[in-house]
Amino acid sequence: MTTWNLQETRCHLLICNGGSCMMRQADEVTQAIREEIATLGADKEIHTTRTRCNGRCVDACVVIAYPDGIWYKDITPELGRAVVRKHLSGDRLEEHMVYSFDRQFIASGLSVAGTDKAPR
Ligand code: FES
Repeated sequence: MTTWNLQETRCHLLICNGGSCMMRQADEVTQAIREEIATLGADKEIHTTRTRCNGRCVDACVVIAYPDGIWYKDITPELGRAVVRKHLSGDRLEEHMVYSFDRQFIASGLSVAGTDKAPR
């Protein structure tokens, strides 16, 4: 069991490791992101978590960055490294952004609209 001290974390990257993303290099993306973080000595600033499906399989491989609430699509290992560098410098990988959080709702960007969720 792991219990990290996350007090200095500035960015949390959620790397989708669901089935569709795994078919689009999610494991390699995960390793590339973690290697880039280690290479840059940014373990305290950027935390990563593998997730199951995030419900945007058309965008595989999906990487989500918080607290900005940015959803990235079509992330390859090289683009995963770029995500790390961008977020460390306070920037974003604009050309792969699908959604970003505008403090009230998630705002759409370059996304396929998707299917509405059923009412509760
Ligand atoms: S498997 Fe990654 S969004 Fe569905």
